[in-house]
Parts: sequence; C-alpha cells; structure tokens
Amino acid sequence: MVSPKYHVFICTSCRTNGAQKGFCCSKGSVDLVERFMEEIEDRDLSGDVMVTNTGCFGICNRGPIAVVYPEGTWYGNLKPDDIEKIVERHMENGEVVKELQI
Ligand code: FES
Repeated sequence: MVSPKYHVFICTSCRTNGAQKGFCCSKGSVDLVERFMEEIEDRDLSGDVMVTNTGCFGICNRGPIAVVYPEGTWYGNLKPDDIEKIVERHMENGEVVKELQI
C-alpha cells in the first residue's frame, strides 16, 4: 500500500460522468495538476507526494482549490506560478504557504 508523506487533492471540477466542467476547470486547474506533477518529478519527490484530481469542494468562487493532507491545508485562487512555491515550501520544507492559504 502506498503511504505518501503528502497527498494533494486538486479540484478539476470532475463530474460523476467523467466530464470536467465547472469553475476550477475553467480557471485552468487541469494545468495545475500537470504543474504539480512536473515539480514533484523535478524535485525527486514522487515517493513522498501523491496528487489526485477531485470534484468540487463547494467553494468554487475561491478556486482553483488544492487541499494538502495530512495537515488539511486549503490553498485557493491558485495560478500556475504558485505550484512551485507550494511544492518547495510545503512539501520540501514542511512550511504552510500562508499567502496562498484560504
Ligand atoms: S469547481 Fe472547484 S471548488 Fe467547485
């Protein structure tokens, strides 16, 4: 069983029928998943960080949203350039990125 140090859930507005429609998806959240994957790969953190795309968290107006466990830290209004910051500071150094936290 996989037991990552961090698990990142990113809202891609997935619907139960598999379609990706909705606020976070329209704001580029699928690209954010890609950015997370690239940063994790580049920093050799694949064994420590798992990334999963999810459906709506119910706070669409603050999206795109990512939630990081085990802390349960919510990040919002994410842009592609924010991902490097989260991976470097949160996943590598264990520091919540306060300016992106909601
Ligand atoms: S669509 Fe992402 S939080 Fe609702």
